[in-house]
Amino acid sequence: MREITLDLVRVTEAAALMASRLLGRGNKEAADQAAVDAMRGMLDYIDMKGIVVIGEGEKDQAPMLYIGEKVGNWKEDAPELDIAVDPIDGTRLVAYGRPNAISVIAAAERGKIAFLPTYYSMKLAVGPELAGKLDINAPIRENIRVAAAILGKDISEFTVVILDRDRHRKIIEEVRSLGARIKLISDGDIAGAIATAMPESYVDMYIGIGGTPEGILAAAALRSLGGELQMKMWPRDEEERKKVEEMGYEVDKVYYTEDLVGGDNVIFAATGITDGEFLRGVKYGKHRAITDSIVMRSRTRTVRKIVAYHDLRYKTLPLKSEGETTLVRIEIGSE
Ligand code: FBP
Repeated sequence: MREITLDLVRVTEAAALMASRLLGRGNKEAADQAAVDAMRGMLDYIDMKGIVVIGEGEKDQAPMLYIGEKVGNWKEDAPELDIAVDPIDGTRLVAYGRPNAISVIAAAERGKIAFLPTYYSMKLAVGPELAGKLDINAPIRENIRVAAAILGKDISEFTVVILDRDRHRKIIEEVRSLGARIKLISDGDIAGAIATAMPESYVDMYIGIGGTPEGILAAAALRSLGGELQMKMWPRDEEERKKVEEMGYEVDKVYYTEDLVGGDNVIFAATGITDGEFLRGVKYGKHRAITDSIVMRSRTRTVRKIVAYHDLRYKTLPLKSEGETTLVRIEIGSE
């Protein structure tokens, strides 16, 4: 599986390059489509028998990267993998040219990436020093007090990332009343959760309700970073709660990092689309683009940063749209 590590970076690089061409155009659907086509096209070149377990949705909603889609070249002796993708985490961020958007992929042995059916989940993410020390069911104040004490920080030095949503008013008030710092993000909670485990980001905790697939993808990265993500499904209404129960899930169960992404060989790769906490966004120059990526493997816990300089006069990308692959030069203006 080691061999495909760099291939996965190429996938997120391609998605980020294509999506960032549409930076600030106000069209999140078009940016997402560009990232999906690039990701889907690149995936065909990888030696693996991949099955998408987290993607763009069910087959009837998404023509590509749908749950259950086969990806990779399916060569006879290729490894059998679960593949989880988010071609853009932060489609609105790209559409409005705002920071913090990334393109993400994770791979694990077949059957090791969980599927949870709710749209949202409650999540708590922390870095290595706090892994195993907190409890998502405990009051937020208590978790912050315990965490700050373990880190040897004053509460006023403790930083929590929270998605800026009305549903978080109470949480935000509680954190404020305690005197901790808050980094409110408008979107992109995969990067928000991962930042807790990145030493240079100086973020201590991520809490709040965000997308369930985004939580699982963040857990894949935290497996290599030694951090932790605890998650509980958060049904939006009674109807969703009933559906989840009928499917045999226990709604109040806490899922820990390894329940979300198991096995001992998890690979995670991400490329910055716009500037963020630990990845820089795609920079376009004359005939040139620069991408900034991160890739990690849980088996060795090696975390690599990869800066790539792309000469657009020589670069072609396979874009796959509705089953058709076209090789495209990505130089600005060429289609
Ligand atoms: P998209 O890129 O799919 O728009 O998701 C962005 C995001 O901010 C996620 O990072 C987060 O988990 C989710 O949306 C939160 O959902 P909502 O915007 O509905 O509160």
